[in-house]
Amino acid sequence: MDERILVLAPRGRDAPVIAETLAGLGHHTVICADLPVLTRALQEGAGAAILTEEALAQDATETLNAWLSAQPPWSDFPFIVLVTKQAGKRARADADRLQAMGNIVLLERPINAETLVSAAASALRARRRQYRARDQLTDQAKAEAQLRFALDAGHLGAWDLDLDSRGLTTSQQTKAHFGRAADEPLTLDDIEAAVHPQDAARRLAALETSIAEGGDYDVEYRVTWPDGSLHWLQVRGRLNLHTPGQARRMSGVILDVTDAKTAEAALRAMNETLERRVTESVRELQHSNARLLEEIGEREQAQAALVQAQKMDAIGQLTGGIAHDFNNLLTAIVGNIDMIERRSDDPRVQRMAANAREGVERATKLTAQLLAFSRSQQLDLQPVEVDALITGMGDLLARTLGHTVEIRTDLRAGAARANADPNQLELAILNLAINARDAMSDGGTVTIASRTADGWREGLKPGYYVVITVADTGHGIPADLLQKVFDPFFTTKSVGKGTGLGLSQVYGIATQSGGTVRVESTVNVGTTIQVWLPVSDAAERLRPSDAPSSETPLSQGERVLVVDDDPGVRQFIVQCLRSLGYTVTEAAGGQAGLDRIATDRPDLMVVDFAMPGVNGAQVAADARKAFPTLAVLLVTGYADAQAIKDLVKSEAVLRKPFKVSDLAVSVRRALEEAARVLDYSP
Ligand SMILES: Nc1ncnc2c1ncn2[C@@H]1O[C@H](COP(=O)(O)OP(=O)(O)OP(=O)(O)O)[C@@H](O)[C@H]1O
Ligand SMILES: [Mg+2]
Repeated sequence: MDERILVLAPRGRDAPVIAETLAGLGHHTVICADLPVLTRALQEGAGAAILTEEALAQDATETLNAWLSAQPPWSDFPFIVLVTKQAGKRARADADRLQAMGNIVLLERPINAETLVSAAASALRARRRQYRARDQLTDQAKAEAQLRFALDAGHLGAWDLDLDSRGLTTSQQTKAHFGRAADEPLTLDDIEAAVHPQDAARRLAALETSIAEGGDYDVEYRVTWPDGSLHWLQVRGRLNLHTPGQARRMSGVILDVTDAKTAEAALRAMNETLERRVTESVRELQHSNARLLEEIGEREQAQAALVQAQKMDAIGQLTGGIAHDFNNLLTAIVGNIDMIERRSDDPRVQRMAANAREGVERATKLTAQLLAFSRSQQLDLQPVEVDALITGMGDLLARTLGHTVEIRTDLRAGAARANADPNQLELAILNLAINARDAMSDGGTVTIASRTADGWREGLKPGYYVVITVADTGHGIPADLLQKVFDPFFTTKSVGKGTGLGLSQVYGIATQSGGTVRVESTVNVGTTIQVWLPVSDAAERLRPSDAPSSETPLSQGERVLVVDDDPGVRQFIVQCLRSLGYTVTEAAGGQAGLDRIATDRPDLMVVDFAMPGVNGAQVAADARKAFPTLAVLLVTGYADAQAIKDLVKSEAVLRKPFKVSDLAVSVRRALEEAARVLDYSP
């Protein structure tokens, strides 16, 4: 259709001849009857048209002209017009009509076939060139449409900048990225005004680098839209160097990346929060770990203290038992020595008895230390001004420690009074000082200090304590022995030099009075021992005087029943009482004693507290129930005489070992007490 040649030559046989001639050369020809038919055929498509001038004049040419001016830009349809040679100039209207047709070739008649054929061929060639241009234009338009579609799909705005004139061309999308409508202008000045002040320098630097070095222009910056909102744009471009000699241009695309930036910022913030949380958690973890370790340490310490306390308790019970038995033996021995002294005037016997008594006294002292440790010794607890007590020991200490040891004191307890047994406390301090001296064979310094402190940190009952510290600069105690030094009989001293009971006694009196002992030592540096004693209550309990009367009270004819399971002790008591003039009967156990009361009718029952089966207090209570007027005297080797006194609600308690005079006084007092009870009873 595009290649056909239209022929309009209504007169004579012109048309068939032309058509035949061209068809003979392979052209496709179509003969048109008149101008409207030709115009319609043109609309359908044709490569060239051959027509006669008269045919143009015959019909109105408006439709043809309309078609001609409606041709697409690529089309300039070729016409070959056959004209008749004329004498003069062509009429004006005819000339205009031909002019309006544009691309025409005039052939004068008569025409030879050759001329016609070559004119037709060149017209077709021209038409084909137009077709190629048309195809190129179509391809270009298609490519452009595709590009535009792709840009739209990617929300990419396109832009083109004339670097010399600063002229800017932008797509609709680019304008949208700057918050402008399609019909609003967008100049380079507008863009520079919209860029965020903090980003302006960076944008300009990127642009200038790209222009100077020919590299890609790639920058992100913030812009403020006319409505005031802020947006992140990513802009990319490249120098357009395809047209040498022409203005330098840069073209590129632009994308709104606000969402990505917001997400990125949110992510960064989230990461930072996460990091902070992790750091916090780690810190918390470390904290609780440290606390846990601390607690473990504390628990281990408490555990060690508990083990030590349990050990000391067990040893205490053991030594207490031994000391108790020992005491019974000593009671019997001392009693018998007493009797020997009383019975004989022979000076040799007296001397031997005195030697024996000396030995017994040493044994008694040892037993007392053992009992002190095992808390079985009765302490004479009373408010003691510790500073005064230490000051009073000045001479004794100086003499005992000798010249090689310097004694320093740092007394700060002042008037604070500790709840202690002053004699035992003196002994304890003396022992600590001697231990210090023994640890400093080449001399050194002993510092005896006192102060007051709250005991709760030491695991003691809260409240004030007097702390006595004895520190030396001696050889110290190896760590593995530290736990052992309070054990009874633990000593590193040679036979005869130490018994290993000194610190046991210190431990005993401190714990028994409600305090404690602490030892710290560094080998070759020195040892510090602290004795904690509770501060005595302000309201000091007045204790009844235990002082024995100067003369030994004798019997006024009373009857006494002695109940003791230990034959040695029982025998001693019986003999003592008889020597004092009492009528005495005896029983070897609690039940036997109770049975004998009815038959023996005693005024007083002397009963040992610690007996197998029923204890002395129970025997006493049962006896009193049956015989309310019966006087009772309890004999005990235990420290807790006060507790026993409380238990039997009586002062009539005698501690072993005792002398005949002690027994005489106690018996008399028990008898008098019973008489008082009798007096007051209704
Ligand atoms: N200040 C000290 N420096 C170094 N070691 C000491 C010190 N005090 C005590 N010790 C050690 O503790 C042991 C026990 O002391 P403790 O006072 O109980 O008994 P002792 O001094 O050996 O004998 P005792 O005191 O009965 O005469 C001592 O043998 C010694 O090894
Ligand atoms: Mg000692």
